[in-house]
Amino acid sequence: MSGNTFGMLFRVTTWGESHGAAVGAVIDGCPPNIELSGEDIQGELDRRRPGRVALTSSRGEGDCVEILSGVFEGRTTGTPISLLVGNRDVDSASYEGLRDVFRPGHGDFTYFKKYGIRDHRGGGRASGRETAARVAAGAVARKVIAREGIEVLGFTVAIGGVTIKKFSGGEVGKNQLLCPDAQAAEEMEKRLDNARMEGDSLGGIVEIRVRGCPAGLGEPVFEKIDAELARAIMSVGTVKGVEIGAGFRAAGMKGSECNDPIGPEGFRTNHAGGILAGITTGAEIVIRLACKPIPSIGREQETIDIQGKPRKISVRGRHDICVIPRIIPVCEAMVCLVLADQLLRQKAICGGRLRERNAE
Ligand SMILES: Cc1cc2nc3c(=O)[nH]c(=O)nc-3n(C[C@H](O)[C@H](O)[C@H](O)COP(=O)(O)O)c2cc1C
Repeated sequence: MSGNTFGMLFRVTTWGESHGAAVGAVIDGCPPNIELSGEDIQGELDRRRPGRVALTSSRGEGDCVEILSGVFEGRTTGTPISLLVGNRDVDSASYEGLRDVFRPGHGDFTYFKKYGIRDHRGGGRASGRETAARVAAGAVARKVIAREGIEVLGFTVAIGGVTIKKFSGGEVGKNQLLCPDAQAAEEMEKRLDNARMEGDSLGGIVEIRVRGCPAGLGEPVFEKIDAELARAIMSVGTVKGVEIGAGFRAAGMKGSECNDPIGPEGFRTNHAGGILAGITTGAEIVIRLACKPIPSIGREQETIDIQGKPRKISVRGRHDICVIPRIIPVCEAMVCLVLADQLLRQKAICGGRLRERNAE
C-alpha cells in the first residue's frame, strides 16, 4: 500500500533516502540455485553511478553493494535476498538552503503536502539515489531472465531535441551517451555543454529493447505486460511518457500499415513492439520513454517556502545536467524486474511450458 514494493512473485522492496546511511533492496521470491555474485550486481551499479561521465553529478557515490542474505556459496537459496549500498560522499550542507524552500519540478512540494514532514537533504526518497537499489535488484532479475535466454538493452534516442538519424548497435558502447549514432552524440554533447553553461538542464528519449522473449508471456486484461512495463518505467523519476512499438505514431497509421503481417517464419514487421493483447508475440519488445529535464538547476526560478511565501531559488550542489544516460540501466532494471515476475507467474499458471509451446 505504501508504494515501496514492486512485483507479485518476484517481489522487490526498496528502502533508504539519498542522504541516509544507505539505500537497499529486499527481494523475496527469487528462485533458488541461481549463480549470483557481488560482481554481477556491481557491474550494473557501476553503469548507473554518477561522476562516470562529465554530464552527470560529480557526487562520488561509490556504490559498493553488499549481499547480506539469500546467497550461499555463490548461489541463491530461495530465501529473501537483502542488498545494501552505502551512501558515501554525502554533502548535506549544500542542501541547507533548501530546508524550507520547494524546488520547482522536484518532489519537495508534493512530499511535504503528503507527509507534512520533509527530508530536504538530497531529495530524500524522491532522489535519483533510490534507483541504485532498483538497479541492484534488477541485476538479480537479469540473472533470472538470462536463464530463459532473455536480454534487455537500452540506448539513447534523443537529448535536448537532438534525435538519432541512424542506428548502429556497435556505436552504443563507444560513446559516453550510449548513443547509436556517433554524429548525433556529438551534437547532444554540445547541447549538454551549453545547458551546463546556462545553469540549465535537458531531457531526452531512451529506447529499451528486449530480445529472446518467448511468445505467450503476460497476463490478460488488468495486468497486460505492456501495462506492467509502462507502470514500472513510469515509476522512475523524470519519466513523463512511455510508448510501446509504434506508440503515438500508430494513431496516424492505417490498419493496413499498422498491423504486422504474420508468415510461417513469424511477424514480418513489429509495429506492435512485441506485444499483442498484453501478451508477448515472440518478436523484440520495443519500449521508448520520454524524460523531462533534471529539476535542480542553477538558473534563478520563482518558488514558495513552506509558509507559502514567494521566494527565488537557484539550486547549487551536485546535480546531473540530464538523466540520460544514467537512467538507461535503471529502466533496464525495471524491465528485468517485470520480466522475472512475469516468468514466475507464467510458470505458476501454465506450468512454464512456453519454450516447448513456442517450438511447436
Ligand atoms: C538516475 C536519476 C538521477 C537523477 N538525478 C537528479 C539530480 O541530480 N538532481 C535532481 O534535481 N533530480 C534528479 N533526478 C530526478 C528526480 O529524482 C525527479 O525528477 C524527482 O523525483 C521528481 O519526480 P518526477 O520527475 O517523477 O516528477 C534524477 C532521477 C534519476 C532517475
